[in-house]
Amino acid sequence: MTLGEKLCLVFLFLRIVFTPSSHGNQVVLLDTTSVLGELGWKTYPMNGWDAITEMDEHNRPIHTFQVCHVMEPNQNNWLRSNWIFRQAAQKVYVELRFTLRDCNSIPWVSGTCKETFNLFYYETDESHGVKFKPSQYTKIDTIAADESFTQMDLGDRILKLNTEVREVGPISRKGLYLAFQDIGACIALVSVRVYYKKCPFTLRNLASFPDTVPRVDSSSLVEVRGACVEHAEERDTPKLYCGADGDWLVPLGKCVCSVGYEEMDGACFACRPGFYKAFAGNIKCSKCPPHSFSYGEGAAVCHCEKAFYRAERDPPTMACTRPPSPPRNVVFNLNDTCLQLEWSPPSDMGGRRDLTYNVLCKRCGPEPDQCQLCGEELRFVPRPQGLTNTTVTVMDFSAHANYTFEIESLNGVSKMINYPRPVAAITVSTDQGGEYTYTLTSDPHNPEPISLLVVDYEVKYYEKEHEELSYSSTRTKAPSVIITGLKPSTCYVFSLRTRTSAGHSAYSPKYEYETTDDSEYLIPPSLYQRQNPVSPLFFSALPYPGVKTYVDPDTYEDPTQAVHEFAKEIDPTRIRIERVIGAGEFGEVCSGRLRTLGKREIAVAIKTLKGGYVERQRRDFLREASIMGQFDDPNIIRLEGVVTRSRPVMIVVEYMENGSLDSFLRKHDGHFTVIQLVGMLRGIASGVRYLSDMGYVHRDLAARNILVNSNLVCKVSDFGLSRVLEDDPEAAYTTTGGKIPIRWTAPEAISYRKFSSASDAWSYGIVMWEVMSYGERPYWEMSNQDVILSIEEGYRLPAPMGCPVVLHQLMLHCWQKERSQRPKFTDVVSFLDKLIRNPSSLLFLLYSLLFDPSVSLAESPGEVVDYHMFISIGDWLDSIKMSQYKSSFVAAGFSTLDSVAQMSIEDVRRIGVVLIGHQRRIVSSIQTLRLQLLHENGFHV
Ligand code: ADE
Repeated sequence: MTLGEKLCLVFLFLRIVFTPSSHGNQVVLLDTTSVLGELGWKTYPMNGWDAITEMDEHNRPIHTFQVCHVMEPNQNNWLRSNWIFRQAAQKVYVELRFTLRDCNSIPWVSGTCKETFNLFYYETDESHGVKFKPSQYTKIDTIAADESFTQMDLGDRILKLNTEVREVGPISRKGLYLAFQDIGACIALVSVRVYYKKCPFTLRNLASFPDTVPRVDSSSLVEVRGACVEHAEERDTPKLYCGADGDWLVPLGKCVCSVGYEEMDGACFACRPGFYKAFAGNIKCSKCPPHSFSYGEGAAVCHCEKAFYRAERDPPTMACTRPPSPPRNVVFNLNDTCLQLEWSPPSDMGGRRDLTYNVLCKRCGPEPDQCQLCGEELRFVPRPQGLTNTTVTVMDFSAHANYTFEIESLNGVSKMINYPRPVAAITVSTDQGGEYTYTLTSDPHNPEPISLLVVDYEVKYYEKEHEELSYSSTRTKAPSVIITGLKPSTCYVFSLRTRTSAGHSAYSPKYEYETTDDSEYLIPPSLYQRQNPVSPLFFSALPYPGVKTYVDPDTYEDPTQAVHEFAKEIDPTRIRIERVIGAGEFGEVCSGRLRTLGKREIAVAIKTLKGGYVERQRRDFLREASIMGQFDDPNIIRLEGVVTRSRPVMIVVEYMENGSLDSFLRKHDGHFTVIQLVGMLRGIASGVRYLSDMGYVHRDLAARNILVNSNLVCKVSDFGLSRVLEDDPEAAYTTTGGKIPIRWTAPEAISYRKFSSASDAWSYGIVMWEVMSYGERPYWEMSNQDVILSIEEGYRLPAPMGCPVVLHQLMLHCWQKERSQRPKFTDVVSFLDKLIRNPSSLLFLLYSLLFDPSVSLAESPGEVVDYHMFISIGDWLDSIKMSQYKSSFVAAGFSTLDSVAQMSIEDVRRIGVVLIGHQRRIVSSIQTLRLQLLHENGFHV
């Protein structure tokens, strides 16, 4: 037996237990582990690869292909799959599981033994009879054993089972063949799985979205319109985007259940008898209002019981009502020729409040049946009909007459019944007529002005943006008050009223006041009330002293003076321009050398102002230098100086070898450890912290505006306020006419140009996302309009692949709608420092605890951090939004994280987690937890 044969035998002992990796968003086109009969793959030459089929304990075949001609030179052994139908795929994934012998473990093979093999494919519409011609095949990759492996003990030998996945595409033919080329390695190919990814059929917001195949290009999304489920209707067009990994992203719009239907578990169900729903929307069916009913299912309104009614304008939500009973206790009071009638309200208002009274007058002869309606001769004050008070005054009686007054009470449904309506009546007789005049005395008022004593003052204030919907107020007896706790950079409206012994005065006119940008610079306005009753308000602001602040160069009348205040003039003979490295708005950007005054040469970047400029362009160009020259921080691009006294005008800055961060990351996709990326983010945050401490708002933080040097130090660049935005190709015009890089900008800055350090925090969150996704475009190919809409609806970018939860949580913190709730840069820096000092904290689950500046972690690298000591089961479930299962875990005895870390999916099901999505979320978090605990106990994962 040759050594090759012996080695092959080793493979025959392999028993591989497959855990089929099926995922909801994968469509499997081929899986050799599930093929029951012969695979029928071809080998060239015949004695190259060996097809070996073993039976597992369930008597199912395990197909393996083995080759091990490590002793013989010039091997060229091919294995070709059957034709694989691609179905709807535009790109397929090939997952290979294989073992590969380490050449060092085989004696006498040096020189001929290889440790790789090659994977090829050939696209074709022909499914049969295709002859194998290696030249038709395109190479996908060279496959080598990977670092991650499963260890299988074979006596004292260790073989490593590798899993490698490769993408193939775009493919346009009906199908493809795969081919495996061995060039002298010792390989056992134990499974081949070919699949493509799809965004699986899903129901979201009462709309269904069909199975969708993603685009081949991983950075563009497929926009899919949803169809409303049965008995639902569109509110805003429901849309989802299908991402390259088969995940649905960015839900927009929705459907709502139609009238008579309510939402339950993602479908619309008819209201039960006795219930109704009058409006389309995500509201539940309601019980029929009092005195109404619905017999059938799906009622939009309930019908009124007998003798109950709805007025024309009564909403369907209102109870059915009936006319009121008659007024009670009618009394009169006769005063000269004036009759005052008074009565009490009815005992039954019919269930309504729109009660009025009509007074009907009949003048009767001596016999009771000789009555006629009074006509116009009597005067009623205020009127005879539609009275809302329980009194009326009647005048201008004739002598010797009997009058009967019938008083009826009415409400909104009185019209619904036929006459006669119940009335209360009273008869009055007069025996004396005449032309009397009378005076109604009413509303006696004191002509003397009352002198009022001031009790106190009330100051009411609210954020202008929130209008008067919610306001705060404070009372003071003193004529001044200090108001604290105001938010920074916020416009407040103040108003004042006086309380006197006779009650409150009206509010004074409104006064607006805007607090400053920096919270540590909070200005408590003092408010003085000078005169009685209400006088103008006077404010005084008390800034805290001692912080170096940025000076806006536009406040200088002469911009040249500003440049020379903040930037050194460089003698151009000290500059040597070497290469053009880019183009700016004003001219070329070059790299070169600058001789320092100490005669050293340093690398610099030189921005030039091209000839033919007008004065305004020169000023705008130099504005950046006036700004940059005020900064001195290791994470802000350093200004060396300017050339203004000769042509061309130049700005000279330190040279950053790796150029802008976005293209640098794209070029090195996947090359850095998470800690290296966090280090870059820490640098950027520290630079922006410096800027915000200086009172400078950048307005255009984005990876393209960060520069990277040869030590991977990131520095913030591109200063110049509005000019920055003019220069930025990402900046788009908004409806209000501003030019704004929409994807990077906080909503309040887009809507009403409210730029602040808090809006910089939003942009910083986007930069974090760009960094963690290696320069992916935020919101992919979505339109600016859709980005604005989705943010407004609460959508936020998902965690990039491989991004630790805590970093995504920090991004979400930066993307809080309420800007005062976004993190301060100083806290961001401390947080990132904490992660860098304790890399295992990247596996941490509880962001809020970790972000808390008062929680410090172990400082020395080797120290074990016992995180799970301070995470309860409740905290953990909260952190993965599964709080509803707290009692199930506790009831089943899983009360510590250690015990949870041992749980299997069956345990999770057993304690009552029925929904598959919830099971998945919990199990995936348990896996993270296990890793974390392993890590804490000194294992390296
Ligand atoms: N591009 C623009 N500014 C630069 C700088 N300072 N270094 C390198 N490339 C740049």
